[in-house]
Amino acid sequence: MNRFDTPFIPPKDGGYRVAVAGATGAVGQTMLEILASRNFPVAELIPLASRRSAGTTITFRHQEITVQDLATFDPEGVDIALFSAGGDTSLAHAPRFAEAGCFVIDNSSAWRMDPAVALVVPEVNPETLEMARDNRIIANPNCSTIQMVVALAPLHRAAPIKRLVISTYQAVSGAGNRAIEELASQTRHLLNGMEAGSEVFPARIAFNVIPHIDRFMDDGYTKEEHKMMDETRKILGDDTIAVTATTVRVPVFYGHSESVNIEFAAAMNADRAREILAECEGICVVDDPASEDYPLASEAGGTDPVWVGRIRDDHSCEHAINMWIVADNIRKGAALNAVQIAELLIR
Ligand code: A2P
Repeated sequence: MNRFDTPFIPPKDGGYRVAVAGATGAVGQTMLEILASRNFPVAELIPLASRRSAGTTITFRHQEITVQDLATFDPEGVDIALFSAGGDTSLAHAPRFAEAGCFVIDNSSAWRMDPAVALVVPEVNPETLEMARDNRIIANPNCSTIQMVVALAPLHRAAPIKRLVISTYQAVSGAGNRAIEELASQTRHLLNGMEAGSEVFPARIAFNVIPHIDRFMDDGYTKEEHKMMDETRKILGDDTIAVTATTVRVPVFYGHSESVNIEFAAAMNADRAREILAECEGICVVDDPASEDYPLASEAGGTDPVWVGRIRDDHSCEHAINMWIVADNIRKGAALNAVQIAELLIR
């Protein structure tokens, strides 16, 4: 029997007990909105955050619910926990949720490259979720990686991808609520002729572009670049794909944009890629140079699809194309993907 035919969590009358760890954060807040808007069967919603927020309230389905301290919360009886409270918090607390029988969908990078942990994008590799039957921890990939692999997977199925050269243009919301506030306040200060200090980003982000996301590694790449290179191969299930990336923070609130050069091991061109992508669930192709139509972060923000445009042949290389890929990094890049995984768990 195909084990995937058996639900991970048996159906429950009235719905499931769902915890959101990091419920006061940028991603956690969007997880709450998406659980509600997709009518996820929630019987009880348990918002968790740090001790700082315990006792405050959040709103879920027009109801005020008190936030509890993750550190002292007992996970017994919780069916699903969506974690978006940072890697250290996940390492400290996700295992005790899993041991209590709860399925943890973790948005941090803590377990993504663990060979025993599924790294899931529902449109791409839902079958890998089988791994979670035993260990009950599922990793939600890096935001830039999710939107890129949604667009790459159907092309890779048609003609194997040989090499990827990626440059990203990433929104500040990927670094959380304090980062959103930092861009807003720096912009206000500078437009009023005042000094603007930086706390969240390594340099001023307002009116600037910073080629540095997450920490530097020994090889001169950043951890964000390594995440894209390693997670792409794991999700596409192909270690032979060569990947190189430059990840860059730009002064945009919501929506990551990516320039991706794709070299294939077999025949592929822009027209065929456009046709393939136009048929795919979760992808919207906006690609009309004649009417100057292409995906924009300002239009992708607040939407669910991965938007693809500027699809064109790379005249410098056989079987190679360029694409521009845009998505709401907080939705498809984080909260929506996590809720879609939760939907697979109860399917
Ligand atoms: P809190 O609001 O109590 O600090 P963002 O990504 O927008 O910065 O949000 C991070 C989220 O992770 C917030 O909900 C934050 O809660 C939560 N968080 C951060 N550190 C911890 C921690 N040590 N334990 C529990 N939750 C945490």
